[in-house]
Amino acid sequence: MRTRYGPWAVVTGASSGIGREMALKLAEEGLNLVLVARSQAVLEQMAKDLRDPYGIEVRLVIKDLAVEMSVNSLVAQTDDLDVGLLVAAAGFGTSGVFLNSQLEQEMEMLNVNCRSLLGLTWHFSQRFAQQQRGGIVLMSSIVGFQGMPFAAHYAATKAYVQTLAEALYVELAPKGVDVIASAPGPTNSGFSDRAGMKVGKVLSAGEVADSASI
Ligand SMILES: NC(=O)c1ccc[n+]([C@@H]2O[C@H](COP(=O)([O-])OP(=O)(O)OC[C@H]3O[C@@H](n4cnc5c(N)ncnc54)[C@H](OP(=O)(O)O)[C@@H]3O)[C@@H](O)[C@H]2O)c1
Repeated sequence: MRTRYGPWAVVTGASSGIGREMALKLAEEGLNLVLVARSQAVLEQMAKDLRDPYGIEVRLVIKDLAVEMSVNSLVAQTDDLDVGLLVAAAGFGTSGVFLNSQLEQEMEMLNVNCRSLLGLTWHFSQRFAQQQRGGIVLMSSIVGFQGMPFAAHYAATKAYVQTLAEALYVELAPKGVDVIASAPGPTNSGFSDRAGMKVGKVLSAGEVADSASI
């Protein structure tokens, strides 16, 4: 992993759930990490827990990815690093009757799940194609494969991610860049509370991170 995708990986959504588990697995593989999320204290603790035990470097970028231009500033903070892997796991969901939804919250979700993911994918695919080496992991979802009443817009954001990843898998392969979508079903994390979703049988975030290897 370190030779193929290292020495640095950027992981968004690193403070919780699937992104956090992915970051831990990359640390075990010896990759240096740029950890991105809003929860500064959580990321600071993670950095403490990872640096010495795994002998890696960790840089924190505290960022709200719903905010316009946040991607530009995040990318700028990685300009001096030899990044070979992007894990775009930051995201959240909404649920309920579409007619009752709050447009501002839906726009925020669009910004985090789609617009920031697009910006990051665009920037890092340029870098990776130039260096003829890299990997991109985009967090999709099982709900991205068809319309989903009562989570209509969340499912639509994941259809966007899934479709983008499938096409880039083909386009970027000749440039030496691997792309995958990870599209799990319900997973035990902070997700369902924030989305207001009741879920039945769940995967662990570790199981999802294990299956997302490229
Ligand atoms: N859990 C599931 O059932 C499930 C199933 C399929 C797909 N997914 C997808 O998997 C991804 C990870 O979700 P999860 O289950 O691990 O949920 P989670 O435990 O709630 O983690 C979400 C992560 O995204 C970050 N995030 C949320 N809003 C952000 C913002 N505005 N700016 C920056 N970072 C933000 C959070 O960090 P901060 O709060 O610290 O900012 C957190 O690290 C999401 O894209 C989700 O759609 C989840």
